Formats: sequence, structure tokens, C-alpha cells
Amino acid sequence: MRAIKIGLFGYGCVGQGLYQTINNSKNFEGEIVKICVKDRNKKRSLPTNLFTFNKEEILEDPSIDVIVELIDNAEAALEIVTTALKNGKSVVTANKKMVAENLEYLIDLQQKTGKAILYEGAVCGSIPIIRTLEEYFGHEPINEIKGIFNGSTNYILTKIFQEKMDYDQALEQAKEKGFAESDPTLDVKGFDPKYKLSILLTHAFGINVSPDKITNLGIDHLQSSDLEFAHKHGYGIKLIAQAIRKNDEVFACVLPQFIKADHNLRNVNNEFNAVTLNGEFCDDQLFIGKGAGSLPTGAAVLSDISALSYDYKYEYKKHYNQGKVHFNNDSEVTVYASFQKPEDIDLNEFEQVSDKYFCFDRSYVIGKIKLSKLLRSKWVYNSKISVIQFDQSDEFSNELDLKTLETEILELRKGQKLREKISV
Ligand SMILES: NC(=O)c1ccc[n+]([C@@H]2O[C@H](COP(=O)([O-])OP(=O)(O)OC[C@H]3O[C@@H](n4cnc5c(N)ncnc54)[C@H](OP(=O)(O)O)[C@@H]3O)[C@@H](O)[C@H]2O)c1
Repeated sequence: MRAIKIGLFGYGCVGQGLYQTINNSKNFEGEIVKICVKDRNKKRSLPTNLFTFNKEEILEDPSIDVIVELIDNAEAALEIVTTALKNGKSVVTANKKMVAENLEYLIDLQQKTGKAILYEGAVCGSIPIIRTLEEYFGHEPINEIKGIFNGSTNYILTKIFQEKMDYDQALEQAKEKGFAESDPTLDVKGFDPKYKLSILLTHAFGINVSPDKITNLGIDHLQSSDLEFAHKHGYGIKLIAQAIRKNDEVFACVLPQFIKADHNLRNVNNEFNAVTLNGEFCDDQLFIGKGAGSLPTGAAVLSDISALSYDYKYEYKKHYNQGKVHFNNDSEVTVYASFQKPEDIDLNEFEQVSDKYFCFDRSYVIGKIKLSKLLRSKWVYNSKISVIQFDQSDEFSNELDLKTLETEILELRKGQKLREKISV
């Protein structure tokens, strides 16, 4: 077998990790022949003749078999990947945003060009979930896929809960360690795990759902009173991505969630990710591994490059065979919503309110709301409001009268205004 000649785009956290894994791997027949990067002034740890700033030097080189795309810009990445496939080169990428936003197009392009694009490193770093869904679960209906899909937010939440670190300090550490995206808002606002979830919807259920149709909230609105609520009730908080099938309908979302002490995701900490999967025949499965970082992600990329050496391709079996399953985000979730000013929140958007705590400094309500409303409502994205989901096993059957609540809220606001006046 001929050694694979690799043209690499990007030599940052993952690109350097890939370089190291290739140099330290066993039985891998391949080498990086050129690396395209952007910044001409950056010092490099490798000889300068290995680098280029001209993408054509790699994309048009007939001796290069495989393009590995590891840059941090989704638009530029799509251009690179498209040209590579059209030029007859297979591709490995770890760019979840680019893959999630263009999956339908990329599937089509693979069919037209006969070349493959693999992206295991894009979803949960080192956990081999895509190939597992494609190969092992190719014929088994999946009921549920759920988990911690983002290493940096899990790292931040671990530091906040276990070491009482404040949010900004924990985020800085996540950045320093290379777990956070170049733009960390993608992590902390829940976009990164949403891209991954959107990709898994295709491989687990055979449905392509554009990320903008999936509800996502992050951990950046969490307040100290929310942490107190969690501690008081024995919960931890994790950012959970989930897709659940009920008959032929699948709903999906990314939300911070209260996690009980005995939950199987409670002790998945730091940059670790976890995927729990429930299959019709196999029942529950749990996969845990490092979801970010130079070497773990580099290893996932190396595994994909190696798979290309035996002409491996995703077959998208469920995508082609399971036409009747469709996406529906009208499902209800039970959430806790905490706020300071009651006029900031719209209680009428709740299907039912089961509990409330009203106080001058910070109040909360607990109730059922449709995911589609969470996606569209403006108040949800107000940085002073935090929304946290309860697990499906938490039951809230009580139903408070909305009219009475509204009166209580008016009283609360009057009291707050009076207090503001006195303090001026
Ligand atoms: N970090 C992780 O743990 C992790 C985990 C899973 C997936 N990923 C994904 O892997 C990809 C790379 O992430 P990263 O953390 O390695 O990013 P990074 O450390 O910020 O590195 C980005 C690299 O891309 C290069 N680059 C940017 N735009 C370019 C362009 N137009 N042409 C050529 N090179 C360009 C940069 O060049 P310069 O060196 O010249 O600046 C740099 O080398 C992203 O899609 C990310 O979502 C990352």
C-alpha cells in the first residue's frame, strides 16, 4: 500500500495534535507533505519549507491524496473542502459548524465526485460516535441520543461546581488549555454542541436538520442564585445536547440541565464528553472520552485518514432508508427560569407553571414550555434571564393559576420600584 500524502490546512491546536499523533503512531503509512496557514508573521515549530500561504499549492497538487481541513473559519473551510472533493481528493475535517450547516450539500457532493469526507473529530473529539452509529447501529432504530457534547463548557461547569471558581476565570483556563473554540461564544452559548447534535441527527435518525431549527441555550446566563438552587436540591448543572424519538418524530435541543447525583452524566467532568444512546434492541449505551484538546482530536482525525486508506465512506444508511422519521420541535420541556425584573419574562408563553419563588433580588418560575417557543422568544436570550431544563424524570404536576401569578408579579414589581426609589 502506498503511503498517504496529506495536505493539511491549519496548524493550530488540532493541526499540531495531528502532527504529533502521526509522528508517534504505529503502523500508519502516511505523511504531511504541506501545511497551509494564514498568518505570515507567526513563528512555526517546523521547517518553513513545509508551510505555504497559498491554498492552490495543496489543492492543485496531484501528488496529494487527502486534504485534512483543520482551520477555524467555516466559510473558508467549505471552499477548501468543496475544491478538494471536486479535484478528486478525499477530505477529513473537524469543522462541525461547516459540516452541520452544509451536510445536505456535502452528501450530494460526495455522491457526485465519488470521493469521501469524514468528520469524526468534529463530534465529541475522541469518542468514535459517528462510525459507531454508521456501522454498528446502521440497522437498529435509535430511540434517544443525549450527552455532554462540549468540552470547554463541561470544563467551566466542573471548575465552578467543584472548585468554586468564578465563570470568567474558568473560561480563561478553558481557553488556555485549548478546549475552547477560537470564538468561545460558540461554546458557552451552546452553538458548538448544537452543530454536533445536528450532525448526529443525520447518522442516528437519518434526518438532516439545519442547526438554526434546533433550540440552543448555553451556560453564559447562569447566576449565583441558580447555583444555590442547584446545591440546595442536590443537583449539578451540565450542558446537555439531546435528541429523542417518539414514534416517527424526533425533537432535539441543547439546554443547560439540572442533573441528579445518581445520573450517569453527573460524574463526567472537565473536558470529557459523553454520549448516551438508547437503541431499540441494545437498550442503553454510554460512551465517554475527551471531547476536545490537541491530541484527542488529532487522534480522531488520524483515525479518519487511516480509514480513507481502505476507501472507507459514510453510507448514510438511515438517511437513505428511513424516510418516514421527521423532526418536530413542538415538544414540551420543563424548565426553571430565573429573573430579576418580572417584566423581562413572558409567563404567557408557558403551557403550565408548576412552582414559583418571588423575591426582590431574584425570582424563578418552574413550568412547561414548548421548544419552538424557547427558540423564538426574545426574553429567553436576555442575558439577565437564565433557563435550565429539568430531566424528564423530574415530575412537576402542580398547576398554578396564571391570573394569580400575574397579580403577584405586579405586586413584586411595585415593591421593587419602591425599593429602587428609596435607595436613590
Ligand atoms: N480545539 C479543539 O479541541 C477542537 C476539537 C474538535 C474540533 N475542533 C475543530 O477543529 C478546527 C481547528 O480548531 P483549532 O482549535 O485547531 O483552531 P486554532 O488553534 O485556532 O487554529 C486554527 C488554524 O487555522 C489556520 N487558518 C485559519 N484560517 C485559515 C485559512 N483561511 N487558510 C489557512 N489556514 C487558516 C490558522 O492559521 P495561523 O496559524 O496562521 O493563525 C491556525 O493554524 C475547528 O474547526 C474546530 O472547531 C477543535
